[in-house]
Amino acid sequence: MKIAVIGTGYVGLVTGTCFAETGNNVICVDIDVTKVQKLTNGEITIYEPGLEKLFLRNLKEDRLNFTTDLTEGIKDAEIIFLALPTPPGEDGSADLKYILGVSEELGKILTDYKVIVDKSTVPVGTAAKVKAAIEKNYKGEFDVVSNPEFLREGVAVDDFMKPDRVVIGASSERARNVMGQLYAPFVRQGNPVIYMDEKSAELTKYAANSFLATKISFMNEIAQLCELLGADVDQVRKGVGSDERIGRRFLFPGIGYGGSCFPKDVQALVKSSVEVNYDFQILNAVMDVNEKQKLHLMPKINAYFNNDLKGKHFALWGLAFKPNTDDIREAPALYMIDELVKAGATVSVFDPEAMNNVKKLLGDKVEYAENQYAALNNADALIIATEWNEFRTPDFLKIVTSLKNKVIFDGRNLFETKAIKELGFHYESVGRAT
Ligand code: UGA
Repeated sequence: MKIAVIGTGYVGLVTGTCFAETGNNVICVDIDVTKVQKLTNGEITIYEPGLEKLFLRNLKEDRLNFTTDLTEGIKDAEIIFLALPTPPGEDGSADLKYILGVSEELGKILTDYKVIVDKSTVPVGTAAKVKAAIEKNYKGEFDVVSNPEFLREGVAVDDFMKPDRVVIGASSERARNVMGQLYAPFVRQGNPVIYMDEKSAELTKYAANSFLATKISFMNEIAQLCELLGADVDQVRKGVGSDERIGRRFLFPGIGYGGSCFPKDVQALVKSSVEVNYDFQILNAVMDVNEKQKLHLMPKINAYFNNDLKGKHFALWGLAFKPNTDDIREAPALYMIDELVKAGATVSVFDPEAMNNVKKLLGDKVEYAENQYAALNNADALIIATEWNEFRTPDFLKIVTSLKNKVIFDGRNLFETKAIKELGFHYESVGRAT
């Protein structure tokens, strides 16, 4: 099939590349000239494991092309995906200016039937707004479909190629058929394509992310309680997660969720609820708990150093909001750095992928170490904020010889409490005995 993808950000590039991978002809459109040039020249613009290989292959096979020309990009397309940013406005609601702007443009240049698909996470009712924006200038036939993405950064290619489910919000039979045909190669194992109306599809995305965020905040509160009652959250997690109705996944406590999706989507759903006079009580609590959780290690650090961090030096491993990404949006590490520096401490940081992004944001507010061990030199303690695999079985001898004190504050529960204590460390983590 012939497909246009408008917006070559994270979602657009993964979507375009993966559709090309199943033999479709994809043209990606973006207004950013430099980005389009880079992509055309085979230079990938985002970090996502496994994507570059597919991107280069499909580029070479001429199934994946890039342009800044919207008219040219959509001319032959049967389906047009909108993968445009929806940044949170000042009040927390998603700003639709990019999506509706492009929709109006599309209205001016459409000449025949096309399926226009909202791929971005958009508030309930957006499909209708997109339709209205197109109809301002176009009176011919077209359909607007909501097809939310459920990609996780770091495993997005796998999530796209083998989705748990595909949600298609379309009231028109014609559009359902086109979308079903497009997704058939991705659900050969029998995973469901779930058809529904546009509004339900839009809400499904917010409900899914908000539910997952709720699971995390719930476990973070259980972890708090474990610390106060002397229970071990790891064991509670296993006991609870073995109930199939609850499930083992997404029950890991830590220093809060971050990234570009959960914080933004939970906030946007609360905002949408307020607009229809509904008080979504659970989600307000989910957000509150998460804000506090980002600084969960701080009282422990303060207590250990007798509330005096002035002149102390910390090593901090992990800056990205989670492993396998360079994304630092809403990353708990940044909140902690802020607190440490405010209290007069210095911080030496290391992350396998996110160093450049942090340098751009923080400049010389922190020191940047060459590798995870270099960060430890003369540090009073090690703090762990992201569960990168390379932090899981480190060389403890090197840690002992570099750190001034054998002290670790671990926000991701990477080590067995008993084993690390036997090595002589003072070790504090989340929801486990100290
Ligand atoms: C999330 C969803 O998982 C995707 O399904 C969705 O498509 C995506 O948002 C989106 O809306 O675009 P992502 O933000 O990439 O994906 O990251 P996740 O792997 O879901 O992790 C989110 C946060 O939860 C991270 O900060 C992670 O550290 C935290 N988390 C996750 C926990 O604290 N505990 C867990 O058990 C799992």
